[in-house]
Amino acid sequence: MSTSPAATTRKPDSGADFLPLQGTDYVEFYVGNAKQAAHFYKSAFGFQSLAYSGPETGSKDKVSYVVRQNKLTFVFTTALHPNHPIAQHVQVHGDGVNILALRVDNAASAWNETTARGGKSAMEPTILTDKWGEVVLSGIHTYGDTIHLFVERNNYSGPFMPGFSEWKTAYNPPSTGLQYVDHCVGNVGWHQMDRWVKFYEEVMGFRNILSFDDNDISTEYSALMSKVMSNGNGYVKFPINEPAEGKKKSQIEEYLDFYRGEGVQHVALATPNIVDTVTQLRDRGVEFLQVPSSYYDDLLSRVGTIDEDVQPLKELGILVDRDDEGYLLQIFTKPVEDRPTLFFEIIQRKGAQSFGKGNFKALFEAIEREQSARGNL
Ligand code: FE2
Repeated sequence: MSTSPAATTRKPDSGADFLPLQGTDYVEFYVGNAKQAAHFYKSAFGFQSLAYSGPETGSKDKVSYVVRQNKLTFVFTTALHPNHPIAQHVQVHGDGVNILALRVDNAASAWNETTARGGKSAMEPTILTDKWGEVVLSGIHTYGDTIHLFVERNNYSGPFMPGFSEWKTAYNPPSTGLQYVDHCVGNVGWHQMDRWVKFYEEVMGFRNILSFDDNDISTEYSALMSKVMSNGNGYVKFPINEPAEGKKKSQIEEYLDFYRGEGVQHVALATPNIVDTVTQLRDRGVEFLQVPSSYYDDLLSRVGTIDEDVQPLKELGILVDRDDEGYLLQIFTKPVEDRPTLFFEIIQRKGAQSFGKGNFKALFEAIEREQSARGNL
């Protein structure tokens, strides 16, 4: 692999989308033990081995395992030395998402356009090459220690990117049907919502498509506010949560306390058959938040006719919500590490483009039961 600075040609500012995104390229997690994390996402979530980087491929100070399921690519990275920045990230935050990588046609342009609008550079445009072609990377900082990396890979045919070799194993558990990243949610600190809404609007050209205040998202005890930011074509959606005052500690505040700052709260993974996917995930050991069975008593009178039988939804704890355009089914895992921080949402959209507002109360009460059991409510 070789690296060199990319040409930084400035595109004239037209009225068009200055940051065209093709979707999520990958999500990278900094973890304490990448080998074991990759195994968990294969065995429990149904990802397949894809690529590896480590001392054997020339990476002397960190190791990365790349796994893939349909259009989902996750990277798990561990430092090999205690004073490496990745080791420090894990010491502060625990296992968590560091990179939300976005696919672009021109990584140099993405960097030029966003840094010209005030984005703080995390990586200047850099060309990586190997026998399979070239990948151009650039990046900017967002909330907390989180980074948006822009990935240009139109001229690359290798397994992942230069520096990685193909990773083949004898253990290849089947897919659970997960397809792509539907949205990624960030938790930001008290009174930081407007700052980050402005960042996504001004630096990345996103729009605020939905807002929820503490009247929408408040239970007896705790509260939060949320705004959904979307890019121009709607392929990339980043809801942002901020804690709000309630009788007791907001679930967002619990996250901020344990993550030691702002960061990714959940990644929503889309499936075309949520009953089948969640059945497999549960059978493979993924733990989900449970709502009381009374949630299902008047489900159909709340959401109208749905294609699915209610009984399997009730057995699995899958939630349903309807908006003007259709309905959606969703369920949330418990945190996937010991700190109460990152979790996953499994979502199936049947027309609805919203985020399950009708489920917030039942869902947050379920979260609070867990919070209370941890002594953090
Ligand atoms: Fe979500």
